[in-house]
This record gives sequence, structure tokens and C-alpha cells, in this order.
Amino acid sequence: MKSSQPIGIFDSGIGGLTVARAVKKILPNESIIYFGDTAHLPYGDKSTAAIQAYSVRIAEMLLQHKCKVILIACNSASSAAYDLVTEYVGKRAKVFDVINPTIDFIRENHNGDKLGLIGTKQTVSSGVYARKISDLNQDIEFVSLATPLLVPMIEEGIYEDEISRNIINKYLNDPVLSNINALILGCTHYPIIHQEIKNYFYSSNKEVEIIDSADTVARALKSYLEYNQLSSKGSDAVDKFFVSDFTESFEQTTKTFFGTEVHLEQIPIWDELT
Ligand code: DGL
Repeated sequence: MKSSQPIGIFDSGIGGLTVARAVKKILPNESIIYFGDTAHLPYGDKSTAAIQAYSVRIAEMLLQHKCKVILIACNSASSAAYDLVTEYVGKRAKVFDVINPTIDFIRENHNGDKLGLIGTKQTVSSGVYARKISDLNQDIEFVSLATPLLVPMIEEGIYEDEISRNIINKYLNDPVLSNINALILGCTHYPIIHQEIKNYFYSSNKEVEIIDSADTVARALKSYLEYNQLSSKGSDAVDKFFVSDFTESFEQTTKTFFGTEVHLEQIPIWDELT
């Protein structure tokens, strides 16, 4: 692997741009190749087998683009396909997901705490977080709640208003999340409502740390690149953003997740499979 190779990031759609944005913020010299599988979204309601098949094919495409790292930005794909993608990629690139860096963060900071997770149905029902937290062998109580309305809500541009506040409050009021010390935002889209979630706990007088998996994986990636002397040395980074199905509305929504609107290019990676 060479430091000049790009970083591949993939997601079910454009929500993973929150992760690309976090990476870009702390690693501005790295070139990014982003792929959003808009032809198949949402992954949150798909079967594990379907997500695994999509993820391996996407990893192959990113390898063809000579990526030194493949970062699975999607929590649903991280929970369904990390092991398989890692095995498939082998030594050809380093694979990151958004779950393991969060588990490392928890190991170092949350022994003795009660932790909550919110995410898609796939992420919650996979039980991956529960298993990895229990493997830490620490005194941690773990609870989780699927919050499937949040993705379409954010994609429809409904956030920072009364409707989003009501939906967020309804979910966070769920008794399963009572008395947590920290809440893991286990979905690409949730950084967009980070502040609203914070406000909920603040206004209910609860001190709850919000763990944003986009930030934890960006920090882990930076340490990995530095430690392995794989950080890009140039200042001529070029980012490319691909999707499997282009619509103008997807392109417009990139602003919500990336901060600025980016140009999306369609690549037909599924043609050979259909
Ligand atoms: N990217 C997905 C995740 O982080 C959310 C959107 C979807 O369900 O595809 O789980």
C-alpha cells in the first residue's frame, strides 16, 4: 500500500457523507472515493445476506480504484458485513467499520456505565454491539432501540423543527433508555440531529454523553495512517463521489450530509450481476 492511494468510503446512500465529512475534516490531504449504493437503499431494512452481497461487490469496486483503506460508513453494513468484507479484501487494503472504533472508545471510557444505542432495525437486531460490548468483559450495561423513523425524517429535510423534536423525544423517552450515561449514534444520519438529541437530554436534566461513530472512526483512521506511515503527503487531494443510481434529489441532499453540495456520478456496478 502507498500513502498516495485514496481512501474508499461506502454507504447504502448519501448519509455516509457524514462519515466522509468527519474524515475530510481531520485528514484534509487524503483523497476520498465515496460510493453510495442508492440503487439498493435503505440497507436498514434489508436481510444480512443481501447486505453482505452488496458490500463485497462494492469493496471490489473500491479495490479496483486502488484504495488503501475501505471504510464501511454504514452502520447496517458494518453490522452485517464487516467480517466478510475484511476476509474478502485480505491484505489488499485495510478495512474499517464504524462499530469497532466505537467499541475501542467505550473500552477506554465507559467501564461501569449504562450505554444506549440507537440505530436501524438491522443494526439493532444484529446484536453486534451487544456482543462486542459483552466481549469487553467490563461492567457495562447495554440497551438498544431501533429508531427507523429517523432516517426518512432527516432525508426529507425534517430536522431542527417541532416535528423532529417530537419524534426524537418520543424515541428517547422510551423506558429502555432510562438512566443511560452515554448514547451511541449508530447510524450515518444521526450526526445531523446530534444537537437536538443533546438538547433533549439537557432539557430533561440528564447528563448523557453522545458518542458519534463518524468522529470515532475518523480518529481511528487518522491514528492508523500515521502509525503505518500511510498518511498522504501531498496537498492535491481529489475527491470523487459515485452512486449506483443518480437522481437530482440525491445530489441536492448531499449538502445536508457533507456540508456543501457535491457532484454525484453514477457508475453501473450492478449491471454484471443482473
Ligand atoms: N446508512 C444506514 C446506516 O447507517 C442508514 C440508511 C439505510 O438504512 O440505508 O445504518
